[in-house]
Amino acid sequence: MVRLSLALVLSQVASSVSASAYIQYSTITGYFLQDDNSTNATTFDYTATNFGLINQTYPTDGANAASLTQWQRFAGLVANLTKTAPSNVQYKLLFLGRHGEGWHNAAESYYGTPAWNCYWSLLDGNATATWSDAHLTDNGIAQAQTAHAFWLSRIQQEKIPTPQTYYTSPLYRCLSTANLTFSGLPLPKDRPFRPTIKALLREGISEHTCDRRSNRTYIHVQFPTYKFEPGFPETDQLWTGVTAETSTAQDARSKTLLDGIFGADKSTYISFTSHSGEIASLLRVLRHRAFSLSTGAAIPVLVRAEKVAAGTSTVSAQPWTASPHCTVPPVSSVSGGASGGCVCPGGVAPVTTMLPPFAASA
Ligand SMILES: *[C@@H]1O[C@H](CO)[C@@H](O)[C@H](O)[C@H]1NC(C)=O
Ligand SMILES: *[C@@H]1O[C@H](CO)[C@@H](O)[C@H](O)[C@H]1NC(C)=O
Ligand SMILES: *[C@@H]1O[C@H](CO)[C@@H](O)[C@H](O)[C@H]1NC(C)=O
Ligand SMILES: *[C@@H]1O[C@H](CO)[C@@H](O)[C@H](O)[C@H]1NC(C)=O
Ligand SMILES: *[C@@H]1O[C@H](CO)[C@@H](O)[C@H](O)[C@H]1NC(C)=O
Ligand SMILES: *[C@@H]1O[C@H](CO)[C@@H](O)[C@H](O)[C@H]1NC(C)=O
Ligand SMILES: *[C@@H]1O[C@H](CO)[C@@H](O)[C@H](O)[C@H]1NC(C)=O
Repeated sequence: MVRLSLALVLSQVASSVSASAYIQYSTITGYFLQDDNSTNATTFDYTATNFGLINQTYPTDGANAASLTQWQRFAGLVANLTKTAPSNVQYKLLFLGRHGEGWHNAAESYYGTPAWNCYWSLLDGNATATWSDAHLTDNGIAQAQTAHAFWLSRIQQEKIPTPQTYYTSPLYRCLSTANLTFSGLPLPKDRPFRPTIKALLREGISEHTCDRRSNRTYIHVQFPTYKFEPGFPETDQLWTGVTAETSTAQDARSKTLLDGIFGADKSTYISFTSHSGEIASLLRVLRHRAFSLSTGAAIPVLVRAEKVAAGTSTVSAQPWTASPHCTVPPVSSVSGGASGGCVCPGGVAPVTTMLPPFAASA
């Protein structure tokens, strides 16, 4: 009950924001292939394209440009943007990384999306795999190791500016992906890998058990060097198992997250380790085009944030909703429809309340 009411508070607070000043975000295009409409996200490989950084000269290139890499010259451009920005404007380069494949991703592929959504996702796992706060599969670990090798090559070959701050979702697959990606890199002394766990960087909060986080004590034991943001509670206060965050509510909290970071973090280069749905939401708020990432992939986004005075920003966040599901495995499923595509055995109508075997564990 406590968990449910907190979730309702989250959705109500977000439902309409009227502010005397607010931050307006936009993506600066023309530097990365990913923000070009003609780049196909499905086939795009960030490791084969220098993170998508377009080969070009910049007006800020100096006399020594020929001896510098593309990333070094891009860093010069960003430094110039930052230095010449009016006081109400900030520029940051965000590296948004999606976690490697987790057991929940493997299960969705194994059972098919409708059967996953209608039944299996609500369980903690099956006889051989656990996907409640899913860990990485071997494939997911390999994807994070690919990201590690790629960052290493960018540092060595391109002298890429490495992140000054690292943030990660509290879900295990992200904590683990960030660790495998960034641990052991030759990072500058003043830019160590010392991530902060941010509650609002988590995945869209559905009824699926993969969206319920582990307790703080467990996270600390597993990742002792990670910092928790102030006020990070011991137990998950947001996952209810009964209703799911809507995408408008998710966008409102993504904006809250960004406002917090842009308001307090002076860093220009920032790494986020997060999820497909949450990165999609961040890209909407940042007014970047849709660009879906495969597991383990990352995208850089050059962001302009402008604090605009007096006005009302209406973020209309819809309240959380319940999703239909079956209480035994569905015989068949179809896409969409009022029953959420769930076709339950024996012609039984899908339900939206939680009955056994979906005992909401604490
Ligand atoms: C990219 O696509 C969006 C949506 O279709 C459109 O609004 C925008 O103008 C396009 N941008 C360019 C540079 O073509
Ligand atoms: C992107 O590539 C995929 C896979 O090759 C293809 O199915 C899809 O049609 C392409 N999308 C566009 C917009 O070209
Ligand atoms: C830029 O040029 C380098 C070296 O020729 C190449 O490896 C890289 O893929 C190019 N990047 C893009 C985005 O085309
Ligand atoms: C930075 O950019 C401004 C505007 O383009 C330009 O006037 C200035 O010379 C640049 N500074 C450097 C160091 O490149
Ligand atoms: C359990 O799900 C995993 C995918 O997460 C799958 O590989 C495995 O075969 C499933 N086990 C059983 C007993 O069905
Ligand atoms: C973190 O990464 C290091 C280096 O790859 C590895 O030795 C360690 O086991 C990882 N820890 C966790 C909890 O994943
Ligand atoms: C925290 O989570 C761990 C792992 O799931 C569990 O063993 C432990 O009992 C939990 N601690 C508390 C206080 O609930």
